Amino acid sequence: MIVISVISTKGGVGKTTLSANLGSILADFGYRVLLIDADIQPSLSKYFPLVKLAKNGLTNMIETGIIDDDCISRVDIKLVSGVLDIVRSDSPDGSLNNFLISQVDRGFRMSKAINCPYVSDNYDVVIIDTQGSVGALLDAAILASTHLLSPVVPETISAREFVTGTIDLMKRFEMFSTMGIKIPVVKAVLYRQDRTTDAKTIGNYIRNAYFELSGRAEVLNTVVPQRKAYTEAATRQIPVHHHDNVRTGQSACASEVMHELIYELFPNLTGLTAGGVNHE
Ligand SMILES: Nc1ncnc2c1ncn2[C@@H]1O[C@H](COP(=O)(O)OP(=O)(O)OP(=O)(O)O)[C@@H](O)[C@H]1O
Ligand SMILES: [Mg+2]
Repeated sequence: MIVISVISTKGGVGKTTLSANLGSILADFGYRVLLIDADIQPSLSKYFPLVKLAKNGLTNMIETGIIDDDCISRVDIKLVSGVLDIVRSDSPDGSLNNFLISQVDRGFRMSKAINCPYVSDNYDVVIIDTQGSVGALLDAAILASTHLLSPVVPETISAREFVTGTIDLMKRFEMFSTMGIKIPVVKAVLYRQDRTTDAKTIGNYIRNAYFELSGRAEVLNTVVPQRKAYTEAATRQIPVHHHDNVRTGQSACASEVMHELIYELFPNLTGLTAGGVNHE
């Protein structure tokens, strides 16, 4: 089971947009994808239209440590072959974070739920959207993950915050290594690059902080630019690789960028295209 948490110690960088677009393109590659909205502000839960609204969501999943049919809502977008479902966030007052903090096994509740047979029988990939600040839900998501993906806006202040924030975050998990629990390397994706910033310089800055990050983070080659296609797709409630899949001019369309990201994260998919997409 692949479990990707989209994390950042900074708010508003693009976690929800990336989670939604990553989940939908993986579904179009034929995977059965389960999104988990682990942000108490339920942005991912509202990103796509839903065709089946489950009576339960994240609260029940965390309280019981189980995911079952009653927690699963279905996303209503046209897919060629895969599945895209979601466990909705349903604790806007934050009481779930408080509940989790009071549990002895708080770090492992999410992992327990994701590793239950219902999930392994019905899904190939789980994508967890997290909140942009430290908290019990973020900790639980990190401990449940096989992959950590972190969008970083390529400007100096954000890059510095990424380095210090990631070091602080990962230090909190060091004790787990003595328990044999391996925390995945944080893969930074330079995200929302505008035409005035130099992603290479910022990427190099983060790479040069490697000593400080001491193998806890690396920078992906794929850069996701700042483009209105991403906000337009969000407004239309469709995946960006459906909305912007024809190259006009020199720069890659959003679908090409999302494919590049997929190939870098999952090299075994290189050369394949998400169902229904044709870049010719
Ligand atoms: N590549 C992009 N180009 C332009 N705008 C983008 C891009 N990706 C996301 N956005 C816009 O940036 C804003 C913030 O994105 P998003 O809500 O995904 O961030 P977030 O990290 O989930 O925020 P929060 O920390 O509040 O949960 C949104 O308005 C979104 O439409
Ligand atoms: Mg968000």
